[in-house]
Amino acid sequence: MSQRETVIVLDFGAQYSQLIARRVREAHVYCELLPWDTEPEQVMALNPMGFILSGGPASVYEAGAPYLKSYVLESGLPILGICYGMQLLAHQLGGKVAPATQREYGLAQLQISKVGQSTAIFDQLPNEMTVWMSHGDRIDAMPPDFEPIAQTVNSPLAAMGNRNRRIYGLQFHPEVAHTPLGKDILNNFLRRVCDCQGLWTPGAFVEESVSMIRQIIGDSQVVCALSGGVDSTVAATLVQRAIGDRLTCIFVDHGLLRKNEGSQTMRLFQEHLGLRVIMVEAQTRFLKRLIGVEDPELKRRIIGEEFIRVFEIEAQKLGQVNFLVQGTLYPDVIESTSVETRAAQKIKTHHNVGGLPADMQFKLIEPLRYLFKDEVRQVGLQLGLPPEIVFRQPFPGPGLAVRIIGPVTPEALKTLQEADAIVREEIEKAGFGRTVWQFFAVLTPVRSVGVMGDGRTYGKLVAIRAISSQDGMTADWARLPHELLAHISNRIVNEVPGVNRVVYDITSKPPATIEWE
Ligand code: XMP
Repeated sequence: MSQRETVIVLDFGAQYSQLIARRVREAHVYCELLPWDTEPEQVMALNPMGFILSGGPASVYEAGAPYLKSYVLESGLPILGICYGMQLLAHQLGGKVAPATQREYGLAQLQISKVGQSTAIFDQLPNEMTVWMSHGDRIDAMPPDFEPIAQTVNSPLAAMGNRNRRIYGLQFHPEVAHTPLGKDILNNFLRRVCDCQGLWTPGAFVEESVSMIRQIIGDSQVVCALSGGVDSTVAATLVQRAIGDRLTCIFVDHGLLRKNEGSQTMRLFQEHLGLRVIMVEAQTRFLKRLIGVEDPELKRRIIGEEFIRVFEIEAQKLGQVNFLVQGTLYPDVIESTSVETRAAQKIKTHHNVGGLPADMQFKLIEPLRYLFKDEVRQVGLQLGLPPEIVFRQPFPGPGLAVRIIGPVTPEALKTLQEADAIVREEIEKAGFGRTVWQFFAVLTPVRSVGVMGDGRTYGKLVAIRAISSQDGMTADWARLPHELLAHISNRIVNEVPGVNRVVYDITSKPPATIEWE
């Protein structure tokens, strides 16, 4: 194992905790986001070089509020507290936190005082900068031996530090884009305070993973469900690097793929990536089970179950297999444990086709378990995967079934595939392929009157959905040029039989979601 530099982000329930972890990774330092009450042994086993304490919605003096466990302060390691994290430091180190009369929320001008000793986190930065504030309580008195190092009009103590103890606190959020120099502040903490060099690179990750996978798998046989998406492809390629042909991939064509997608993806797997792939043509099976099903969650469940069944049958044919590769990413791991989502409401079941067959006798190999999506793409490039895989837009596991509103039929599938192919071809041709996060067609059950030639038509309504987003969690509709939309609409009504009307979806997420179902 290489000498990995690790920083721990303790999550106190802030909306932005994941962002902190992403920023740290962008600074080439490995970090893990763990709930504030994680067992000390588990945290210290990671051999951290420092801690970052996230913000959170609580007040430090509330009964039952999350607190900083003593091992963190006792470790003597560098600590950066952000917002609630800073208040905790103040409260637990002998300072005073007071309930705010007014919540401070929004942009503020930060004045940095560089007269003290404790300004390492502002080194090489201007004396004044814009920052994003979002806090209720404020700090009235610092703990002994701390210095005030920055202020805003409303927060005379916007940042504090103790150089000797290597502990810093920020009342504002350096992790959000609204704090333009926030990255540099975090970088300073990581490099100048924690002494990290920034060894976390895609190359180092590949090397480390390949040797770890080899060790874990030994001489066993491994199976992987490929979907054609970037996650499962990168995961499979990594495992193949480690163990070669002892990996067999299974690609289930459930018939809900985009036009020509099955054959194109297979060609890519075999010719470009040299993966050993078995393709299962299971269209009829899936379509049969979906007859008459309208409810989107039921569609998801059926497709998920059917997928597992098909996968099991194929995997059994392979004989003795011990491991199953999955492309699980870090946000999924965080989601299952985070403070914030312990009580979160489920909007959709994002079942990933290729998901875990719960009762199968495999041990799991999840080589991307600690990566964010952008890191997976970097690793993909490092492994030499072609851009059409690395930058592929997200495609839901249940495929076109959740883009056909109402029952899925072979006719509806054909109509949607044709319309969708036009949407994708034209948006890509116009050069928006990389900047628009997702773009696709949706087939609605709405029928409307039209006129073609001299005759009346009563045809189907297709919607175009194109959105910009950073992570799929929130999204805005893409401001595509009217001419492009006009051209797409024109082509769809002329080329796709049965469609006589096209609309453009101009709703953001929230309140809508990206997919219509
Ligand atoms: P929504 O529609 O919830 O979508 O705004 C957010 C992102 O998730 C994708 N999505 C899915 N992915 N299985 C998946 O693997 C699903 O059932 C599913 N539903 C939505 C969607 O395409 C978008 O990228």
